[in-house]
Amino acid sequence: MLGLNRTMKIEEGELKTAFAAMGKEELMKFANNPFWVRMRWFLFILFWLVWLGMLLGAITIIYSAPKCNPPPPREWWEEGPLVEIKPDVKSDQLKFLKDNEVKGLIIEWPEDSYSEINDDNNVIKLLKVAKEIDIPIALDLEASMSNIWFEKSESRTGFEDYYIWRASDNVNASGSPEPPNNWISRKNESSWKYSTVRKEFYYAPEGWPQLNFRNKNVTEEFSKVLKTFIDKGAKGFRIRDAHILLVDANFENQTPDNSKEVKEKGYFLTDYGFYVHSKTESLDELGPVLKNWRNIVKNLTNNGVFMVKNILDKMEAYKVDGSFVVDLPAQSNVFNKPLFEAEKVVHSLEHIFKTQRIDWPLWTHKSAALPSDVYDSITYLLPGVPLLEGGEAVDKQLAQIRKTPSIMHGNFEYKAIANKTVLSFSRQAPGSPGVLVAVNPSNDTVKVNFLQDMNNISEEVTIRFTSKNFNETNYEIGSKKDANNIFISPRASLVLFYTYQKNEE
Ligand SMILES: *[C@@H]1O[C@H](CO)[C@@H](O)[C@H](O)[C@H]1NC(C)=O
Ligand SMILES: *[C@@H]1O[C@H](CO)[C@@H](O)[C@H](O)[C@H]1NC(C)=O
Ligand SMILES: *[C@@H]1O[C@H](CO)[C@@H](O)[C@H](O)[C@H]1NC(C)=O
Ligand SMILES: *[C@@H]1O[C@H](CO)[C@@H](O)[C@H](O)[C@H]1NC(C)=O
Ligand SMILES: *[C@@H]1O[C@H](CO)[C@@H](O)[C@H](O)[C@H]1NC(C)=O
Ligand SMILES: *[C@@H]1O[C@H](CO)[C@@H](O)[C@H](O)[C@H]1NC(C)=O
Ligand SMILES: *[C@@H]1O[C@H](CO)[C@@H](O)[C@H](O)[C@H]1NC(C)=O
Ligand SMILES: *[C@@H]1O[C@H](CO)[C@@H](O)[C@H](O)[C@H]1NC(C)=O
Repeated sequence: MLGLNRTMKIEEGELKTAFAAMGKEELMKFANNPFWVRMRWFLFILFWLVWLGMLLGAITIIYSAPKCNPPPPREWWEEGPLVEIKPDVKSDQLKFLKDNEVKGLIIEWPEDSYSEINDDNNVIKLLKVAKEIDIPIALDLEASMSNIWFEKSESRTGFEDYYIWRASDNVNASGSPEPPNNWISRKNESSWKYSTVRKEFYYAPEGWPQLNFRNKNVTEEFSKVLKTFIDKGAKGFRIRDAHILLVDANFENQTPDNSKEVKEKGYFLTDYGFYVHSKTESLDELGPVLKNWRNIVKNLTNNGVFMVKNILDKMEAYKVDGSFVVDLPAQSNVFNKPLFEAEKVVHSLEHIFKTQRIDWPLWTHKSAALPSDVYDSITYLLPGVPLLEGGEAVDKQLAQIRKTPSIMHGNFEYKAIANKTVLSFSRQAPGSPGVLVAVNPSNDTVKVNFLQDMNNISEEVTIRFTSKNFNETNYEIGSKKDANNIFISPRASLVLFYTYQKNEE
């Protein structure tokens, strides 16, 4: 108010001439007129009421709008693709992989995990190079077997309970000791070996003496192994043979497998396949042991990967309090089958995502039922991570599609369509183009109607990828097609982008 009066004073003369407006004295006469006083107060209060109303409106809009917190970014091992390389690869290969969309590597540690590390080992050299060029490496370690304490343990000169020792009262007809129970190895032999030194049996299902992880000192030994490799640059681990880390504490006999499939195979009492391996594989007590190691790895590697190599047959063994204690459960069995049947694949996916409740599995494919790039179009774009093995190259087109929010975070619908002959799945995240993948494993060209068979697909779709053997005409990358009239070549796959279109119910 003060400022206004002052300017008016300065410009009084000009104002008078230009507009013939009222002078200050004239104005002041009206200033205290009750009507104008009330008017001034009215406008003053109205201004603030409108301002407050707008503020409240804005707040209401912010709070009532649907929450869309962006999902946390994926870790390197969730993003993928991951590549498994041999321990003897040359270190200049790593740069090449890094430059070709590979997000992380898995390398097998070829020595006894518990023996002293030789820095001349090629894998240690690779860890160094990987650190320089910033590509994470997860080491594949054998946890369950080691020879290094065996002699002392056998002669009872230390580490007595580091292995699984068991006396046996059984003798055969010629007086030789017989194993303490009926545990059979995959070689159809007893899993027990006799030590003439200690006069006891030790458990060695894979030929090597198995460590005793019911002894806290032994689990601590493996914790030390993990820490040592993290110091050397490992960004995560995959544990080999995790399912056989623990055996039944009471050494009870295995029970025969009475399932129909097994009976039909006609196994003998001396065959591995004759039994359910509940006393020696994937025991429930496994979860806490793995969790302990997982915490160390997560802690020291900034949420690096902690996984097991075996396929999880019994989910509960790999969970603690209902949560998985291993990352990226391997689901390689789905795409290693000699036949590709869309309906069976859908059942397998249902089993993995709905029954087992795995949300981000690790995929590989070894089957020759369909061309490799057809399998890639599935394993790169399903929820989860593709693992490439045996020198397989990254498919750059699919790797690009993989980066979209719809693949990294989107929802997932999967079906066998077109008379259940075609595998089709869609991935879609809010605000991103949806990705639609279709695989025709049959020997005939199939016509599909995505508009009818899949949900929320736009009428127009754009071709983004076709497998090498895809040979319909006018299906170039980038071309637009009607979603209700798409042809897929025999044994080929197709990837389309669509816009989310809410289905009318
Ligand atoms: C008893 O076991 C020993 C060692 O396994 C074997 O050499 C011997 O043939 C067995 N004797 C009989 C009668 O089965
Ligand atoms: C174990 O026995 C089964 C059935 O007799 C056989 O199919 C399998 O090949 C055997 N395994 C080995 C390692 O010999
Ligand atoms: C573990 O090691 C400590 C000393 O290193 C020893 O005192 C203890 O008896 C060991 N425990 C077992 C179960 O072997
Ligand atoms: C690991 O996590 C635990 C808590 O979960 C914490 O106490 C500890 O300091 C962390 N760091 C290391 C290096 O263990
Ligand atoms: C599905 O099967 C029916 C009868 O078996 C056939 O008439 C139809 O053309 C098939 N549809 C497709 C898309 O293959
Ligand atoms: C496709 O043809 C091949 C060779 O003719 C045959 O072996 C295969 O079973 C056929 N596949 C299907 C799905 O019919
Ligand atoms: C299709 O959209 C509806 C409504 O947004 C949603 O509930 C449904 O999950 C969507 N279906 C798929 C497969 O995305
Ligand atoms: C596409 O390839 C299949 C064999 O894979 C062949 O039978 C068919 O004639 C080809 N179609 C065209 C249009 O070239």
